[in-house]
Amino acid sequence: MSRFGLKVFAPASVANMAVGYDILGFAIDGPGDEITVIEGTAPGLKITSISGTKKKLPKEIEKNTAGYAASQLLKHLGEEGRSIEMEIHKKMPFGSGLGSSAASAAAGAFAINEFLGQPLSKRELLRFAVEGEQIADGAWHADNVAPSLLGGIILIRDNTTLDLIKLPAPDGLYACVVYPHISILTKESRAILSDTVTLDQHIAQSGNLAYFVAALYRLDFDMIRRCLTDLIIEPQRAKLIPHFQQIKELALSEGALGFSISGAGPSVFALCENSLIAETIGEKIKSFLLDQKIQNDVFVSKINTTGTYKY
Ligand code: HSE
Repeated sequence: MSRFGLKVFAPASVANMAVGYDILGFAIDGPGDEITVIEGTAPGLKITSISGTKKKLPKEIEKNTAGYAASQLLKHLGEEGRSIEMEIHKKMPFGSGLGSSAASAAAGAFAINEFLGQPLSKRELLRFAVEGEQIADGAWHADNVAPSLLGGIILIRDNTTLDLIKLPAPDGLYACVVYPHISILTKESRAILSDTVTLDQHIAQSGNLAYFVAALYRLDFDMIRRCLTDLIIEPQRAKLIPHFQQIKELALSEGALGFSISGAGPSVFALCENSLIAETIGEKIKSFLLDQKIQNDVFVSKINTTGTYKY
């Protein structure tokens, strides 16, 4: 007799969005993580396979972001003894700044909730997914997990309580995301950041963030162009990404509304007012990086408003 099972997909995401370090992020179409859960043959949760990545990811539940998110949810629901087998298929690069561990955690929690007949809402799953992601970099922030799970552009007022809101995503808004094949560990990319900002930086960056939120509510691309600038984090991290200034200038000269680092890097992103601009920027950056002998992947996508789903 065949065993009951189901498959879910959680998309990649771009955290920080230039103006909101640790508090803003959006989901994209294309790359992401697929997780299958099926009835197991022995009590407890077990990860039976991890495919799609050359990096050796741990199968131990306590060390795997998907496994840990799933196990925390099972514990919360008093279902730790359920026989469940989990297969993880990574359809996105690891350590890329595209929220790979967050997508795993979102998919892990979501898959278990579906398997158990949706005892919790998607919003209620967030805490478990963040717990899962936390084991990857040791920090508690939902700017990848929340968009990956819930979809859209997410603004987090407070990471501790996960008080957040989904912001409007203008219809024509496209992202061009480029992943240069170099490795940057989130932990290290966070460790190089100064923990102080000057009052002038605070004033200028608050203005950019507030104006960006207003721009999204007004669906106004010109307003986005005026404020999509990171004055605090990008200047400190840009040195980790080869040729960052040149590719940024290239994107802006082709009409990007703004350009910055995706999450902890090395991926970078441009927001654009239509798909043609996004594709052109993608082609130009791709060929520039190839000339510098840096392999890369380009993803052009609207804002993904669905987040994690079963299929
Ligand atoms: N906000 C996080 C960072 C995202 O930039 O470090 C990556 O986990």
